[in-house]
Amino acid sequence: MPEELLPPPKHIAIVMDGNGRWAKKRHLPAAAGHKAGAANVREILEAARNLGVKALTLFAFSTENWNRPKLEVKALMALFSDYLDGHIDELKNAGVRLRFIGARDKFQPALLKKIQFAEQETQGNHEFTLTLAVDYGGQWDVLNATKILAQKVKKGVIDPEAIDEATFEAQLSLNDIEYPDLLIRTSGEYRISNFLLWQLAYSEFYFTDELWPDFKQAALTQAVESYQRRNRRFGGREE
Ligand code: IPE
Ligand code: IPE
Ligand code: MG
Repeated sequence: MPEELLPPPKHIAIVMDGNGRWAKKRHLPAAAGHKAGAANVREILEAARNLGVKALTLFAFSTENWNRPKLEVKALMALFSDYLDGHIDELKNAGVRLRFIGARDKFQPALLKKIQFAEQETQGNHEFTLTLAVDYGGQWDVLNATKILAQKVKKGVIDPEAIDEATFEAQLSLNDIEYPDLLIRTSGEYRISNFLLWQLAYSEFYFTDELWPDFKQAALTQAVESYQRRNRRFGGREE
């Protein structure tokens, strides 16, 4: 039995999975599940803030999700766009910095513009960071960092021998906040699915059978309480 509870996680990452099955149970198209899932972001953001969390990183669309049916991809892109249209002012006023991680070269220009606008509008906020991972893959992230470093080596700006964890991390997504303390995945799947690979090295994992649109405040509280009972050792040993 751990004697002391951990403080609440500062940073939670979530694989928001199960929208498709949520819709299927209701004989609805996948897009309806994504809509319900997108609506849940607001509730979970609010719940996270009430629990003392300072950053939330949400996996919304993976590198591999481009392989989904065209109509579903289109619906998802429209939802990202709607989310931005409907929430920028609210996030701005609530002290939330919104930013996106992932490749940006496959978005429609209009969506890209909205993303850039949203990031600009909220960049001065420091109370809470909401990161949306869209067209994101952990492997993409690591490769991208490698390419940047390779360019620097080529230009003679850095010595390959000088590349250490810190120089590598500096080129990765999320390099300006502490890595997730807690990773949650909904819908009863036990895998990372190419989410943050490097950054989850010492995160605590929490899996739940609830589908993302059903994962509400009480469910988040349960996950946080589970986290607080953990014993994080980071490879060391307590005497
Ligand atoms: C997660 O829900 C959202 C995205 C991957 C975009 P899914 O659409 O993967 O839901 P399931 O896994 O089919 O239930
Ligand atoms: C992971 O879910 C990606 C997101 C939640 C955005 P998937 O549903 O795409 O993952 P797999 O295919 O079950 O591994
Ligand atoms: Mg899924």
